Amino acid sequence: EKGGYDHFMLKEIYEQPHAITDTFRGRLLVNEGIIRMAGIDDHIEKFQNANRIIVVACGTSWHAGLVGEYLFEDLARIPVEVEYASEFRYRNPIITEKDVVIAISQSGETADTLAAIKLAKEKGAFVFGVCNVVGSSIARETHAGAYTHAGPEIGVASTKAFTTQITLLSLIALKLGKANGNLSHGQYHAYLNEMELIPRKVEVLLSMNELVQHVASIYKDVPNCLYLGRGYNFPVALEGALKLKEISYIHAEGYPAAEMKHGPIALIDENMPVIVIATSKGHYEKVVSNIQEIKSRKGKIIAIVTEGDTQVKEIADHVIEIPETDELFTPLLTTIPLQLLSYHIAVMLGKNVDQPRNLAKSVTVE
Ligand code: M6R
Repeated sequence: EKGGYDHFMLKEIYEQPHAITDTFRGRLLVNEGIIRMAGIDDHIEKFQNANRIIVVACGTSWHAGLVGEYLFEDLARIPVEVEYASEFRYRNPIITEKDVVIAISQSGETADTLAAIKLAKEKGAFVFGVCNVVGSSIARETHAGAYTHAGPEIGVASTKAFTTQITLLSLIALKLGKANGNLSHGQYHAYLNEMELIPRKVEVLLSMNELVQHVASIYKDVPNCLYLGRGYNFPVALEGALKLKEISYIHAEGYPAAEMKHGPIALIDENMPVIVIATSKGHYEKVVSNIQEIKSRKGKIIAIVTEGDTQVKEIADHVIEIPETDELFTPLLTTIPLQLLSYHIAVMLGKNVDQPRNLAKSVTVE
């Protein structure tokens, strides 16, 4: 059932090229130059007339929502707010008929997300679901939606659900950007072409498994770990930290790289590994100066860079290269080594990777 893999988590990490392709299927039609999604097409005016999009989700799905914020604002120029479902539902939120709510949930059963949807519907908002489990409560409770089609995710730590959620949000954002005239014809087509190459690029990252395993063997005994990223890769830093926490029980924090000097920098010494995402188009120079600040405090640097990088390579202790792509697609690539890093550390520490202590696959109680 684990298809020859030691754990479901590893199997699901390796399924990602396939899962992303399944998310594309019937939707990303590069030759025709269209993205076909009935759930969006049938309600396009709701999105086009929206004052804003409010994303509600929990955990990893909330991180995918944060990537969605960058995507929707960048490509479609629609203001976005990303809310923890549990906070949103209890604070008398301001919601109108002009709001579109996107609920993201792998299981489709998360209690807080479901309650947030019900509240948004009562207030007249249009609610769109991004779920993986077909026929789940959230899928049924929303006005419209799109499935990620990642296939069953058994490991408690979400992996392929996350990358397919981001894939789906990218498709929606591109579609809306095209529909509202924000994206030029040429730009739109270039993105479609590049998007189709992502599964192959994910494979390239999976082939670096041994390198990541080696890095894991060096840092497996640390008590703390810091993850930094900017822009599209800030949510990836949060997700990387969550992944490490939940399966290896090592304390980890994710931060926007520039926030480091507002507090977390005090933690840095020769024992602190810092994982920094420094892709070539993502405020690169700024991240490089963050890396220099870590280095001068003797922190250990594990950097995720774009292939061909020279600057970061000179400073970092370890470097993992992602293939070149548009900045908006980088989360789909930078996430992969972070998943593998957490996985290997947890395995080396003898933890129960697929069923970490205290956690359930779907949180159906508040
Ligand atoms: O099923 P959902 O996507 O609604 O679940 C939300 C979170 O409980 C979930 O993402 C959780 O954070 C994962 N264990 C993270 O790996």
